[in-house]
Amino acid sequence: MQHNHERVGFGSKIGAILAAAGSAVGLGNIWRFPFETGNHGGAAFILIYLGCVFIFGLPIMIAEFTIGRRSKASTGGAYQALAPGTKWKWVGYLGVLTGFLILGYYSVVAGWTLEYVWQAATGGFAGKSSTEFITMFQEFSQDPLRPLLWLFIFMLLTHFIIVKGVEKGIERSSKVMMPILFILVVLLAICSVTLPGAEKGVEFLLKPDFSKVTPDVFLGAMGQAFFSLSLGMGCLSTYASYFGKDTRLGRTAMSVGLIDTFVAILAGLIMFPAAFAVGIQPDAGPSLVFITLPNVFQQAFGGVPVLAWICSVAFYILLALAALTSTISLHEVSTAFLHEKFHFTRGRAACIITCGCLLIGVASSLALGEWSSYTIGGMNFFDALDFLTAKIMLPVAGVFAAIFVGWVLDRSIVRGEVTNYGALRSAYYPLYIFILRFIAPVGIVLIFMNELGLLG
Ligand code: PHE
Repeated sequence: MQHNHERVGFGSKIGAILAAAGSAVGLGNIWRFPFETGNHGGAAFILIYLGCVFIFGLPIMIAEFTIGRRSKASTGGAYQALAPGTKWKWVGYLGVLTGFLILGYYSVVAGWTLEYVWQAATGGFAGKSSTEFITMFQEFSQDPLRPLLWLFIFMLLTHFIIVKGVEKGIERSSKVMMPILFILVVLLAICSVTLPGAEKGVEFLLKPDFSKVTPDVFLGAMGQAFFSLSLGMGCLSTYASYFGKDTRLGRTAMSVGLIDTFVAILAGLIMFPAAFAVGIQPDAGPSLVFITLPNVFQQAFGGVPVLAWICSVAFYILLALAALTSTISLHEVSTAFLHEKFHFTRGRAACIITCGCLLIGVASSLALGEWSSYTIGGMNFFDALDFLTAKIMLPVAGVFAAIFVGWVLDRSIVRGEVTNYGALRSAYYPLYIFILRFIAPVGIVLIFMNELGLLG
């Protein structure tokens, strides 16, 4: 991944795809997707999610790529560069704020993955029953200190990489890491669906029950699509500012979308059969991955303890790394903003962001234990932040990105970016513009109105 400000650009087209995929694939796929699916009734949610990915997600991703590559600026400055002197710059600022807030609570969960690496490595999973895994997670997440320790460590790790600049190491290691994560996820899915009693979980995932579709399901699926694809906060537009002239925007978006969706569906295939097999409710919420997965390792490889040990350690390390490539991309957007806008050195900008996110992180972490009685709209601080950012702020900024590229930006620029200034034929261009101008903004607004009960 490349974060230098000299706009040196990605080495290759595959580098561009991997960087964007590194941002997209993360806790959103393996932690958030399964519990949102569980909370919203399973297969019907997944179908609506897929609709959101293809109808809103991919066109808006191409729109963000267009904004980034054309402006050659990070989100904070991109709208300013393309529409100087207008209020559009506020959409860029909204993205920066959203990324900052997401980083705050995302790092808490990223910290949990480190605790689980530690537990897995030191034999903390061995011989535990499913109820013991539930207690283990509850005691850990409600502890006032331990999660904070891991949160600090994770933030420091992210901070260190951002300050150093993301050297070739990260790009190279993500080229190794992503395929390993992929293989491991496929293997685990196979283990999970072959557990005794797993059929109910597979059914939950594949058999849609439309009676469970409420306005919340639409809002949840749309929020999940934006969150998982890293859309609506300018992460991908910042990355696109490093794209080369011959990178194909449409094809890159398609690849990122497919990789991201594939990992999410596989994560579902790991989680639900395993959860049903050991009698854990699918709507266990944010704790789902941390309770079901250790269980799968024990159940599937319990007979061969070494195998159980290797798989669980490897899985949590990879999960932590996948989270790290996402926290880096989240951190970069705010750091680049402070650096470019207020001319702070990168080091100072990164310090401000790290300290701010730590404060949010501490509050989100305590919200799950000591401070759980403080609620906002019936949600604790952690859930409220997740709701506000994923379900409101990301889609709102997404609508603006669609309107900006669909209606405001000069047509020749929009067509030029999509066709690499005439080098590509683009049979889908009229469809793409139609979606950006009408379908995406109207669809997203309808989902909001539906949620508010305005559609009757
Ligand atoms: N897409 C990342 C994930 O799935 C999270 C993320 C959201 C990263 C928004 C960047 C911007 O984990």
